[in-house]
Amino acid sequence: MTKSYLAHRVATLKPSGIRKFFDIVATMKDVISLGIGEPDFTTPDPILQAGIRSLEHGETHYTSNSGVLEVRQELAAHLQRLYGVTYDPVTEIILTVGVSEALYLALTAILEPGEEVLVPTPCFVAYQTEVTLAGGVPVEIPSRVQDNFQPNLAALEAAVTPRTKAILIGYPNNPTGAVASRETLLEVLRIAEKHDLVVISDEIYDRLVYGLPHVCFAALPGAWKRTITLGGFSKAYAMTGWRIGYAAAPAELMVGMLRIHQYTIMSAPTTAQTAALEALRAGEPHVQAMLDEYNRRRVLIVGGLNRLGLPTFEPRGAFYAFPQISVTGMADETFSQKLLEEERVAVVPGTAFGAGGEGFVRCSYATAYEKIEEALHRIEHFMQRHG
Ligand SMILES: Cc1ncc(COP(=O)(O)O)c(C=O)c1O
Repeated sequence: MTKSYLAHRVATLKPSGIRKFFDIVATMKDVISLGIGEPDFTTPDPILQAGIRSLEHGETHYTSNSGVLEVRQELAAHLQRLYGVTYDPVTEIILTVGVSEALYLALTAILEPGEEVLVPTPCFVAYQTEVTLAGGVPVEIPSRVQDNFQPNLAALEAAVTPRTKAILIGYPNNPTGAVASRETLLEVLRIAEKHDLVVISDEIYDRLVYGLPHVCFAALPGAWKRTITLGGFSKAYAMTGWRIGYAAAPAELMVGMLRIHQYTIMSAPTTAQTAALEALRAGEPHVQAMLDEYNRRRVLIVGGLNRLGLPTFEPRGAFYAFPQISVTGMADETFSQKLLEEERVAVVPGTAFGAGGEGFVRCSYATAYEKIEEALHRIEHFMQRHG
C-alpha cells in the first residue's frame, strides 16, 4: 500500500491512553485494577429479568427511531420528578446507544467544520476525540485542584472566539469526582448566554453524588433552550453492557440529532430499552444500595491515599479518586507503569484525561472493598520505596 486509505482526521487521532494501558494489564496475573470506569455490580435482578422477559416475548425487532414511547414518557417523568426539568417525550427525548452515541449525535448535529468546543479538562477520554470526529476543534480548559476541579471560568471565557459553538461539560466529573456547584454552573450559563453558545451537559453520573444534590444544567433559569442533556443507565443502574442512554434537548436540536441517529443506528437495542423502563420504575432501591456501597469505598480509598502521602481531593460524585502523585517525583505515566510492574495495581495516568491531569492518577472505587484494601497495602509498599 503506497498511501493510507484512512482519512487524515482519523489517522491522526490519538489512541486512548486508557486502552493502551489496559492492553498491558490484560497480559498480567494477580493485578488489582483500580482502572475500570464501570460498576463492578451486575445489573440488579428486576432489570435483568425485564430484559430476559422481553426476549422471551419475542421483542426482537427494531423500535421507533426515537425509542419506545413508553420509555421516553417514563424518562420525561423521571427528569421532571428529580430536577423539575420538562421535556416532551415525543419530540425532545431520544434513546441512544449509551451516552457515547448521544454525545456523537449532539456534536455532529451542531458543528460546522472548524467550529470550536470548549472542554473543561480533565474529562472523559472521548470528549476531545468526538469533537474532532464531528469536524470540530476541541479547546481544552484545564481545571485546577486548588479550585476543587471546578471549571476555570476566567479561562473559559477568555477562550471564546468567533468560531466557538459550544461548551461541553461533564459533572459529576470523570476522572476527578468533582461536582460543579450551582454558582459555577450559573457562571458557565452566563458565558454561554453572553456568547450565544450551546451547552452539552453529560450528566451520566447524576445519581452518583455523595451528600450533595445534583444540579441539572438544563434546569437552571434560562438554560433549557441552549442545552443538550445527555444521560444514561450505565453507571447508576450498572448497565454498561446493555448500551442504553438518552439525549434530551429542544425539538429544533433534536430533529437534527434524530436524523443522524436514524441513518447510523436506527434504534437503540430493544431489549435494553425494556430493561431501562424497569430501571426507571423499580431501580431506585438498587441505586441507593449501590450508592451506599460506593460511599463506603470512597471513604476508604480517599482516607487511605491521603494517609499514604498522596494528597487526594475529596470526590463528591461518580466513583473515582484522583490523587496527586507528584510527591513521588514521577510523571503520572511512569508512576502508573511502575505501580503496575512492581505492585500489580492498575490506575490510569491523569494525562489520559487531558490538560490538568498531569501529576495525578485516576483510581476507580467501582471495585470490591476488600480489593481496595489490598490495593492500598500494595500502594503503601510502593510509597515506602518511592515516597
Ligand atoms: C463521563 C462519561 N460520559 C459517558 C460515558 C459513556 O457512557 P455510556 O456507557 O452511556 O456510553 C462514560 C463512561 O465511562 C463517562 O465516564
